[in-house]
Amino acid sequence: MEHKIGVLFVCLGNICRSPTAEGIFTEKVEASGVSDRFVIDSAGTHAYHIDAPPDTRAQQVAKARGIDLSGLRGRQATEDDMARFDYILAMDNTNLNNLERLASMDERQKISLFMSYSQRFDEDEVPDPYYGGISGYEMVSDMIEDAAEGLLEILRREHRI
Ligand code: 4NP
Repeated sequence: MEHKIGVLFVCLGNICRSPTAEGIFTEKVEASGVSDRFVIDSAGTHAYHIDAPPDTRAQQVAKARGIDLSGLRGRQATEDDMARFDYILAMDNTNLNNLERLASMDERQKISLFMSYSQRFDEDEVPDPYYGGISGYEMVSDMIEDAAEGLLEILRREHRI
C-alpha cells in the first residue's frame, strides 16, 4: 500500500488553533478528493487539555464555516509523533521550540511554522486566541484557511497528487 502523507498540526493546548487547522485542512483535502493519501491529526505541546473537546469558541467559528470540530479531543504531542508524521506544523515559535526538543536531529527537518505556507498573510505565527474574544478566533481561522490552502497546494505538487 502506498505510504500516506502524515500531517500533524501542533499548538499549545490542542483546543483552539491546531484542531481548527486539522478541521480546515481535512475539509480542503476532502474537497480535493485526495483524503485517501493523507493521515491528518493535531496535538498540543502541553498536557492541560488532554481529552478535552475544542474550545466552544473555536467550534462555533468552525461550524459557521461548515466544519464540525466536536468529535476532536485534546492530546499531547509525543516523541513517537515526531517519527510517525512527515509534516509537523507548529502554530508559533514556542510550539516549534518545544517540538524540536521531542525530535531527533533528523526529525527536526519535518517541523516548520504553519504560516510559512500562507500566501496572503505576512505573519510567521498564528496568535494564541485563548484569552481574547470571538474576533480573535475569526482572524485565526482566516489565517489557518490561507495556510491550509498553501500547504495542500505544495504537498500535491511535491507528491504529484
Ligand atoms: P491553543 O490555545 O494552543 O490554540 O489550543 C490555548 C489553549 C489553552 C491555553 C492556552 C492556549 N491555556 O493556557 O490553557
